[in-house]
Amino acid sequence: MIDPFGRSISYVRVSVTDRCDFRCVYCMPEHMNFLPKADVLSLEELDRLCSVFIEKGVRRLRLTGGEPLVRRDIMKLFRGLSRHLDTGALQEMTITTNGSQLQKYAAELADCGVKRINVSLDTRDDDKFRAITRWGSLDKVLNGIDAARKAGIHVKINTVALRGMNEDEIPELIAWAHGDGMDITLIETMPLGEVDADRTDQYLPLSLVRARLSEMFTLTPSDKRTGGPARYVHVAETGGQLGFITPLSHNFCESCNRVRITCTGTLYMCLGQEDAADLRAPLRASPDNALLSQAIDEAILRKPKGHDFVIDRRHNRPAVGRTMSLTGG
Ligand code: GTP
Ligand code: 5AD
Ligand code: SF4
Repeated sequence: MIDPFGRSISYVRVSVTDRCDFRCVYCMPEHMNFLPKADVLSLEELDRLCSVFIEKGVRRLRLTGGEPLVRRDIMKLFRGLSRHLDTGALQEMTITTNGSQLQKYAAELADCGVKRINVSLDTRDDDKFRAITRWGSLDKVLNGIDAARKAGIHVKINTVALRGMNEDEIPELIAWAHGDGMDITLIETMPLGEVDADRTDQYLPLSLVRARLSEMFTLTPSDKRTGGPARYVHVAETGGQLGFITPLSHNFCESCNRVRITCTGTLYMCLGQEDAADLRAPLRASPDNALLSQAIDEAILRKPKGHDFVIDRRHNRPAVGRTMSLTGG
């Protein structure tokens, strides 16, 4: 699959549920309206959809949410999709999770061929954790991370940089993650969906964070790529890799290799644009994949050049109406 800008689409992110057991302040309002269950694709349908993308050349698959591990019987989907790892059609199957269910599922994930996972963690301070996630339990997440590591899964920590909330803790988070052999990536908040808070108050440019970190650590730009938008530096003092995802202060769309599918089978060609294609109708219209394949081809031809996120006092509205939890990050 090649888009109009010559980019090859080899990576699909699937939001298997828009539901979550946390309510992070930058992600959703506390009283979130979720999709009606009747609109959501079954696990069998999700498997079929992913398999068609794999047939069309997708090499990497990431299951996300919401929180993917709160979806009932989700391991059946992992187990089923792992056949594509066995045949070599799929190079990598990963997950982005808030970690709350990892204690329960880490061993099984490893058994399904998951080799690395991204766990979202913005603070290791109990009170701050509660303030940021509203509903989360820090202990459960930390135990989940331990379980994943014990299962032999490589963990990358995702930390959203939040002004006045975790900004002072960032150096400590880096030292902790690297000290335990994990990578860590810092992320700028993106204006996706209405949340209760004011995003201008939350937004902390990573250019600023990086300048501050350079005073404490020796940062050397590295060639490491994980197939995502992060750009990495090596931290001499800790010996680990630190990633920066900077959709606001620096755009990386020119090398975009991905599309996203929601749990209702809507294909979004860009995280930050409204245009989408419905894949549920062609999926359900016939047991043959021809219609579905054609709908995907047509959609890829409409993949936009990129997103244009702005957060400042004059642009205090979301770039798109849907939250990250719906599109899957
Ligand atoms: P790896 O590089 O494979 O480890 O993963 P990743 O960083 O692509 O994925 P992850 O699920 O950990 O996402 C981290 C953050 O990057 C999330 O906030 C995503 O929304 C964001 N992100 C991932 N892909 C894109 C993209 O294409 N555009 C934008 N703006 N943000 C993205
Ligand atoms: N901006 C930036 N990152 C966000 N995430 C969720 N909502 C947003 C947002 N509006 C992060 C989560 C997780 C990843 C999938 O996306 O913290 O690490
Ligand atoms: Fe849930 Fe992740 Fe959104 Fe937090 S950021 S509410 S953990 S989907």
